Parts: sequence; structure tokens; C-alpha cells
Amino acid sequence: MEIQKAVIFDLDGVIVHTDIYHYRAWKELADRLGVPFDETANNRLRGVSRMESLEIILENGEFSRLPATEKAALADRKNETYKALLQAMSPADLSPEVRGTLETLRKQGVRMAIGSSSRNAGLILEKIGLEGFFDAVSDGNNITNSKPDPEVFLKAAGFLCVRPQDCIVVEDADAGIEAAHRAGMKAVAMGDAVRAGRGDWNIAFFPELLSIFL
Ligand code: BG6
Ligand code: MG
Repeated sequence: MEIQKAVIFDLDGVIVHTDIYHYRAWKELADRLGVPFDETANNRLRGVSRMESLEIILENGEFSRLPATEKAALADRKNETYKALLQAMSPADLSPEVRGTLETLRKQGVRMAIGSSSRNAGLILEKIGLEGFFDAVSDGNNITNSKPDPEVFLKAAGFLCVRPQDCIVVEDADAGIEAAHRAGMKAVAMGDAVRAGRGDWNIAFFPELLSIFL
């Protein structure tokens, strides 16, 4: 295939398995409120912002009508639980397969960015030893609309000075695959996004990216 100029990686659930910590933190909140929440419901939160995730969790119950200030307090509480879980992370949480693939792409001169809805992206990259590794980081701190809106990927392409059509996105969220397509980019699906079936490629093992990008 033709050589693409840039790759934009989602972070949570693609580079590192922080998706498990998101789930645990939301589950703790949901259990405390007595709201049903399981791993199937959790898949709807992939790629979605913190406040939108809370709205999804509360959507069918009495808490959906809480005032905005109380909802913000619940989201803050979840974030505190989540950040406490992140504290235990270290470079050992970056799998050898992901590290090796990223290093190979770097050696081949592939431009790489992060495109994540998370406001904790900087903290996570620091924890796993990838602070400063990517050519650009577009995250929840520089967008107003989260996936499936294309904003986070369009900003990443802008930071890289690469045209959207020259970027490929790697995503575990169906909302992220949709965001990539709305940005005019192709997308590689992994994890839960494979099940949804809208990726231009599907991979089961991270190093398979090398045969797509090189
Ligand atoms: C995305 C996750 O990367 O970031 C979502 O897939 C999460 O599940 C979103 O809700 C926002 O994360 P944070 O760290 O800003 O609460
Ligand atoms: Mg993800």
C-alpha cells in the first residue's frame, strides 16, 4: 500500500490498558449509587468524554435529573478514583509489543501523534515513560467535542502539519472509528472496535500495524 505520512493513536485501550481502570472507577461510582453497570455498558464509554460517560451511566435512572453541579461532583469523584489507580502505573505497563512497534515506526520515520478524549493523557504518557515520544498530543484538554466528533483527530493532524487524508487512526472505540472517518481519515480497529465492524483494517495483535504502515 502507499506510505502514509502519519499515524494517530488513541491512548486508552490502544497504547495502554487504562480502559480497565476507567471501568473500575466507574463501577465503584455506579455501585455506590446503586446504578446497574457492567462491561457491556462500559464499551459504550470508550472514546467518550468524562461528562458524557456519566450521562450514559445515569441515563435511565433517578440520578439523570441531578443538577449539573452534582453531576460534576460525581465525575470529579470518579476521576479521583481513576487517578489513584493510575498512580500504580509504570513503564512496565507498556507491553513489549507496543513499545517495539512504536520504536520500529519511529526508526522508519513515521510521524506519530496521540488523539485521545482523555484529560489525563499527559499523566498516563508520563507514567508509562512515553512523555515526549510522540510528535504531537491532541487530547481532552484541547477539544470541545469528544469522539465521534472528528475534532481531536483534525487537531492532531494540524499539530503534525499533515493533511487529514494522509493520516491513519488506530482505535479500540467504535466512536473513534466514526470520528476518524468523519475527519476524512482511514482507521485501524482493535479490541472492541473490531466487534463493531467499521474499521478499514482489523488487527488482533499490535505489531500487525507494521504490515499496514510500512
Ligand atoms: C477516553 C476513554 O480515552 O477518555 C473514555 O476511552 C474516557 O472512556 C475519556 O471517558 C475521558 O477520559 P478522562 O481521563 O478525561 O476522564
Ligand atoms: Mg480507547
